[in-house]
Amino acid sequence: MSRKFLITGNWKMNLTPDESVSLVDEINAVVGIQTNVQVCVCPPFTSIPVVSTKVEQSEVLLGAQNMHEEPSGAYTGEVSAEMLRSLYVSHVILGHSERRQYFGETNTSINSKILSAINANLKPIYCIGETLEEREAGSTMEILSAQVREGLSGFPSSALDLLVLAYEPVWAIGTGKTATNDMAQDAHAGIRKVLAEMFGESAASSVRILYGGSMKPDNATGLLSQPDVDGGLIGGASLSAKSFCDIVQAAMSAP
Ligand code: 13P
Repeated sequence: MSRKFLITGNWKMNLTPDESVSLVDEINAVVGIQTNVQVCVCPPFTSIPVVSTKVEQSEVLLGAQNMHEEPSGAYTGEVSAEMLRSLYVSHVILGHSERRQYFGETNTSINSKILSAINANLKPIYCIGETLEEREAGSTMEILSAQVREGLSGFPSSALDLLVLAYEPVWAIGTGKTATNDMAQDAHAGIRKVLAEMFGESAASSVRILYGGSMKPDNATGLLSQPDVDGGLIGGASLSAKSFCDIVQAAMSAP
């Protein structure tokens, strides 16, 4: 099963609208026309409207970093899937470890968001990953399996083409410590096995699983060459057009 690479930039809480325009203009100029690798940028909410107008004429896709599960209502400070769709957002990062750690999100609360996202035809990029303590205790696969099973509980098989997973070992995020190629491959293969148990082999083989955690141009080729690594979710290195586009180019030439 051939899966097209997806390279996604998670800009986190960085860049004003003006700064976002500069960055997306540079990205568009280098990788905005090609269609070999899917490219997606996820700016903060305040930059989504301007970035949306900028990617309209390019192949670059637009994502958000979070959403609320209800379509509207008295939820001060929140943004719904419908609001994002109205700005031509196609993807939404859900369950990022920073949201689990600082904002109390759990597999169950993320599950509600994932189901609402697909109801609005928004593609969830569902983030999972173990902490250092969990890895050292030998419970990585147990944690990942619970995150997949609980986060995707009730997920309809018919919507699997909308789903993207991102394996982001918490200890590798923003630390400069990357999972080795083998560690990433083992985790991705294990995640795909859980998907196969839930949805069947053939469906599982079509779901893209991205790697995230200190991915940079110099380690991207090795990670992206692993058979079950289908792209990257890039934090720090996505804030520089050069390093982000170099990662996209690494994906273009990866096997
Ligand atoms: P870094 O690339 O900065 O480690 O961040 C990864 C990440 O959290 C992407 O969602």
